[in-house]
Amino acid sequence: MFPIHRPKRLRKTEFLRALIRETSINKRDLIYPLFVTTGHGIKKEIDAMPGCYQMSIDCIVEEVESVRSLGILGVILFGIPDHKDPFGSDAYSDEGIIQTAVREIKSKVKDILIITDVCLCEYTDHGHCGIISNGMIDNDKTIQILAMSAVSHARAGADIVAPSDMMDGRVKAIRNALDSEGFIDIPIMSYSAKYASAFYGPFREAAKSAPMFGDRRSYQMDPSNRREALREVALDIEEGADIVMVKPALSYLDVISDVKSYFSVPVAAYNVSGEYAMIKAGGRLGWIDEYRVMMEVVTSIKRAGADIIITYFAKDIVKVLSEDGI
Ligand code: PBG
Repeated sequence: MFPIHRPKRLRKTEFLRALIRETSINKRDLIYPLFVTTGHGIKKEIDAMPGCYQMSIDCIVEEVESVRSLGILGVILFGIPDHKDPFGSDAYSDEGIIQTAVREIKSKVKDILIITDVCLCEYTDHGHCGIISNGMIDNDKTIQILAMSAVSHARAGADIVAPSDMMDGRVKAIRNALDSEGFIDIPIMSYSAKYASAFYGPFREAAKSAPMFGDRRSYQMDPSNRREALREVALDIEEGADIVMVKPALSYLDVISDVKSYFSVPVAAYNVSGEYAMIKAGGRLGWIDEYRVMMEVVTSIKRAGADIIITYFAKDIVKVLSEDGI
């Protein structure tokens, strides 16, 4: 007797496949990253990230308007200041690049969520994510500066602050500082399980944030560790994180899946610059079908458990979704 069960029955037509599809990407799942620089009229493409630009604030405002008109709910902003120093002072100045950009966007674009990346690597002259004392990253001094930075972002109008530095105790320091300044309703999206990854390569060119010496392995996580991610996430939730993030996404789908099943807070995943660059490069060479690979990747990140996906592909994905005839 031939088996009764023929799973292929449900794969026969696109309507049947759509009917039983377990995971779909919605444009509301996506957050688009943007790099803000000083000056006027500047829109400079990033070499290893075709389609992504460093933009001055006037161009960023236009870009945010077009992102919003596509139906994307939010952007995450990274600042490239003119001035870098050992303390990253532009990161917490009310006149800093991010603070100015946030005020400008808020005054011109209605109803867009602005998430700000809270970190020091783009602002320090040595390019590390923390303050250095005696040749070492000074964790406890750094978290005070990160807290000042988060408060200044909130004061400028940021809707969510997202610490990406991986210092211990920074979520609590930021929560306390926000609360004591009256920003009790500003959520923290914490880069909780952030790995020391080679996939950040193109970003460091984009944000001019490569460390001048050493690397980030003394604060970002070892890519070999899975259970440690759960400990990092648990600590951040205890300290007050509202949303937790796994980063990068694609090589860490197991971690996304674990975090989703162990915790009940929303889970974000960051589909990082190197993941974007690989697909763009393969597409340009004609070795892969860029859009199909893009959709497969973003679907896998959602299927693993991500509620929110930060991706440089956000605009391309929305285009593909809107062409879906079903
Ligand atoms: C800043 C930060 C980084 C990224 C996001 N925030 C770089 C890093 O840690 O070196 C990477 C994003 C990407 O690669 O797309 N700390």
